[in-house]
Amino acid sequence: MLLHIENLLDAATVAHMRAKLDAAEWVDGRETVGPQGAQVKRNQQLSDASPLRAELGREVLAACVRHPEFHAATLPVKILPPRFNRYAGGGTYGEHIDGAVMALPDGSQLRSDIACTVFLTDPESYDGGELIVDDTYGEHEVKLPAGDAIVYPAASLHRVEPVTRGARVAAFFWIQSLVREEAQRRTLLQLDTAIRTLSASGADAAAVKQLTGVYHNLLRGWSET
Ligand code: NI
Repeated sequence: MLLHIENLLDAATVAHMRAKLDAAEWVDGRETVGPQGAQVKRNQQLSDASPLRAELGREVLAACVRHPEFHAATLPVKILPPRFNRYAGGGTYGEHIDGAVMALPDGSQLRSDIACTVFLTDPESYDGGELIVDDTYGEHEVKLPAGDAIVYPAASLHRVEPVTRGARVAAFFWIQSLVREEAQRRTLLQLDTAIRTLSASGADAAAVKQLTGVYHNLLRGWSET
């Protein structure tokens, strides 16, 4: 399931992040990748130790927490602190699958169920840079307005097309979900969406309450903490 989250960051937040990122020092993106990824990764990142990465990463996570659709779609139990990347001058990231298990700063580990990219550059300002995600339904091309995000299965094959004009700047991170199976997460999101729609339309309160109970009992059965 690919889900487009609109306006995860508002225009003022994007502008403020971009001003800081445009003045930042970037390092080779291969700093944070294993040997398989290093062969196909050609981009730049903020260093993992960069205070700016920590500062802006906190802002991205705060926006995720505030966004009801993001929460309903991902049901996060752990989130890797966001990183920031930049593709320019032909920069690209060839087809790969993300690492399955990642180290968190507190020494614990995260299983990467879901990947998230937050676009920070206006799509008209660069050529190329599409995120291509190959899931069970075929290839999907993703190039979103600044401030919008895409969440997609970390287990999918995916790539970033070469950026041939301008620069593509984004935040990216991984989520361990309470619900490991993608099909179950999709069912819960559909149920959650239907319950919200019914509630907003003034549907029978007892029936809505019963459906809400079904949602929570499915979540109880499917979640791992
Ligand atoms: Ni990836």
